[in-house]
Amino acid sequence: MDPNSKEHEKEHYFTKHPKSRKKARKVQFRIADRAFCFFTSTGVFSFGHVDKGSEVLVRQILALEDMNAKMVLDLGCGYGFIGIVLSSLFPTCKMFMVDLNKRATSLARKNVDVNNISNADVIDLDYGDESARTSGLPPGFDLIACNPPIHAGKEIMRRMLLAALGDLKPNGIMYIVVKKSLGAPSLKKWFQESLALPTRVYKKSGYHVIRVKTHG
Ligand SMILES: C[S@@+](CC[C@H](N)C(=O)[O-])C[C@H]1O[C@@H](n2cnc3c(N)ncnc32)[C@H](O)[C@@H]1O
Repeated sequence: MDPNSKEHEKEHYFTKHPKSRKKARKVQFRIADRAFCFFTSTGVFSFGHVDKGSEVLVRQILALEDMNAKMVLDLGCGYGFIGIVLSSLFPTCKMFMVDLNKRATSLARKNVDVNNISNADVIDLDYGDESARTSGLPPGFDLIACNPPIHAGKEIMRRMLLAALGDLKPNGIMYIVVKKSLGAPSLKKWFQESLALPTRVYKKSGYHVIRVKTHG
């Protein structure tokens, strides 16, 4: 594709079928005394590095949760950082990693393999499509982790998070990371005041990790 064409300009990390020229880069990352390797690509969120917000999110989950034997969803998995680290550190949890970007899911599958993860499935899925969501995923997650697609717009993002709340079991937990400067305080207010859900916030390096719990 002509890199100067309008079509190219419209491409985002949440494009279903990225057509931009593919450039690959391998990233090595250590967390919780473990070494990971991630293949990343143009056309997928966080090309060539691990996103700081995703790292803050994972560290916060590791600090607070006993993840054993849980059904976990990595919502909008990109190349797979969040789902792969959590699956590796908690081998008895069952991880589902979903994304609508085909280039992202293809990388996530490769990264699951190269990091020897056996308890995670990567699924091509538009989470905004209700019938695809209900037919493509098992019912009832204990925990959902999400670095949401803020740049898709507030309404789309909130609709996605609302659907995710509906996919949690009673007393299920969802963790979302958002930069303070990109609207984390108003998102927390929405969970706490508009949806009346127990909500806590953990702050680190300009990011807010929002922990929201469904009613029992
Ligand atoms: C901010 S990125 C985070 C990626 C990855 N979790 C990470 O930490 O590197 C958000 C991801 O959500 C995905 N996404 C956006 N809308 C989606 C939808 N409707 N269904 C599934 N995934 C979606 C995007 O393709 C993107 O990979």
